[in-house]
Amino acid sequence: MKFFIDTANLDQIKEAQDLGILDGVTTNPSLMAKEGIKGDANVKQHYIDICNVVDGDVSAEVISTDFDGIIKEGEALAALHDQIVVKVPMIKDGVKAIKYFSQKGIRTNCTLIFSAGQALLAAKAGATYISPFLGRLDDISTDGLNLIAEIRTIFDNYLFETEILAASIRHPMHIIECASIGADVMTGPLSAITALLNHPLTDIGLEKFLADHKKNQ
Ligand code: G3P
Repeated sequence: MKFFIDTANLDQIKEAQDLGILDGVTTNPSLMAKEGIKGDANVKQHYIDICNVVDGDVSAEVISTDFDGIIKEGEALAALHDQIVVKVPMIKDGVKAIKYFSQKGIRTNCTLIFSAGQALLAAKAGATYISPFLGRLDDISTDGLNLIAEIRTIFDNYLFETEILAASIRHPMHIIECASIGADVMTGPLSAITALLNHPLTDIGLEKFLADHKKNQ
């Protein structure tokens, strides 16, 4: 499973990259706003800065919701760097734009996926990735993991090449469960990724090894 980090924070991206396990970055307008990145030129420069830190795909989201606007914005984003993947919302004009982009060789990530039907449409349009939002479904007492499993079955039935990018990951168990189901990619915060490192028995075991080593000095 590929590991993407879901942030626009350069320090956190660098930390995950330095760990040696990072395959890409996803951003969205909320994450850009959180970092205080404002204005078209600054937003574009920030995407380039992210691409220069990470070895892998960087999702950059369009703001437009009409076909012509999505195309114009998406083409400008894709031209910034060859690592850019254009993130397009799951709306009717978004699906049309994904089809257009796939015919032009521009890679896409269809975002805000909350049903298997939406995932199927985006895959048929030629999306490179689809992003089901696991945590936000859990937030409304709906089984987000079940959705990912359902999409996995559908994509395997028809050999869709579209990758399932499990998004809105909130904690390490989400990552492990997505890996068990066979999500192709997960994107989550640095805290969920680094939490995978931890186990109290590892800490106790290491402490004992080091104490025993000291006794022999
Ligand atoms: O980037 C999309 C998704 O990962 C958002 O996550 O935590 O805002 O639901 P969250």
